[in-house]
Amino acid sequence: VKTIGVLTSGGDAPGMNAAIRAVVRTAIHKGLVVKGIMRGYAGLLQEEIVDMNSTSVSDIIHRGGTILYTARCQEFTTAAGQQKGAEICKKHNIDGMVVIGGDGSFRGAGKLSALGINTIGLPGTIDLDIACTDYTIGFDTAVNTAMEAIDKVRDTSTSHERCSIIEVMGRNAGYIALWCGFANGAEDILLPERYDGDEQALINRIIENRKRGKKHHIIINAEGIGHSSSMAKRIEAATGIETRATILGHMQRGGAPTCKDRVYASIMGARAVELLCEGKSNRVVGYKHGEFVDFDIQEALAMTKDIPEDQYQISKMLVR
Ligand code: F6P
Repeated sequence: VKTIGVLTSGGDAPGMNAAIRAVVRTAIHKGLVVKGIMRGYAGLLQEEIVDMNSTSVSDIIHRGGTILYTARCQEFTTAAGQQKGAEICKKHNIDGMVVIGGDGSFRGAGKLSALGINTIGLPGTIDLDIACTDYTIGFDTAVNTAMEAIDKVRDTSTSHERCSIIEVMGRNAGYIALWCGFANGAEDILLPERYDGDEQALINRIIENRKRGKKHHIIINAEGIGHSSSMAKRIEAATGIETRATILGHMQRGGAPTCKDRVYASIMGARAVELLCEGKSNRVVGYKHGEFVDFDIQEALAMTKDIPEDQYQISKMLVR
């Protein structure tokens, strides 16, 4: 490869800037030209392509968001859109591409690879819902942000002797909820992968805890279950305990990346460029069993993962 493009796609995640910086600086170190593609695949189709050099990525490693902006792009899910994207890459001499995003972004990356643009995916999402990897860029920061917010809700919840339902992001996955449930010592953790919808059992636990003298009842509810506000109303009606719902929302996606997100994203960014220099394509970089590894994109997309059952059981045991 001689010219590498880099884009971020899907929801932004803290640490994406560290990955971009590593891609740009590793490529320059190897004597390659680097181009930044703005606004993900949507920007590619609009030819929003800028030259990047070492200073383009100065002063960004500590910043949340993505300096390249990001988007979700319907047109790039079509064969015509993908063909147009590959042609635009060729027109700009881009023969290698690094795509930072989630599964949807990797599907696009696989298509670009098939159309002759050597493409490597990096897992960037706060949701941790990419099966081939134990780590995704942004998860660590997001759970720390959520954890700190939930601590604050807990203070006021205890003071008012309330029940609080706090809804965290994660799309259909419960990783953020599980980690916050642990870290915040929640009384209940509702995960889309496990919740059986038995609200009466939840209400019974709240009543039981109050009888045991607990001053608050913190419920971490995953976005994939949702309905936190209506659940709060039903709980209050059934228990007589004042109940409030807090939906943390997009604040979980912002903020300065943690040390782990900066370091892992940097290593993954460098690894992506190394793979391109080795002539590899259609790969996604992951982190498995303590090592940075890479997988064929289609194989990675076919993998599945679930909340570790042992962790879920421990989380339930510790709330008693
Ligand atoms: O994938 C990251 C994520 O923040 C999910 O947790 C959430 O479901 C979704 O993106 C929200 O997307 P948007 O910012 O488009 O509303």
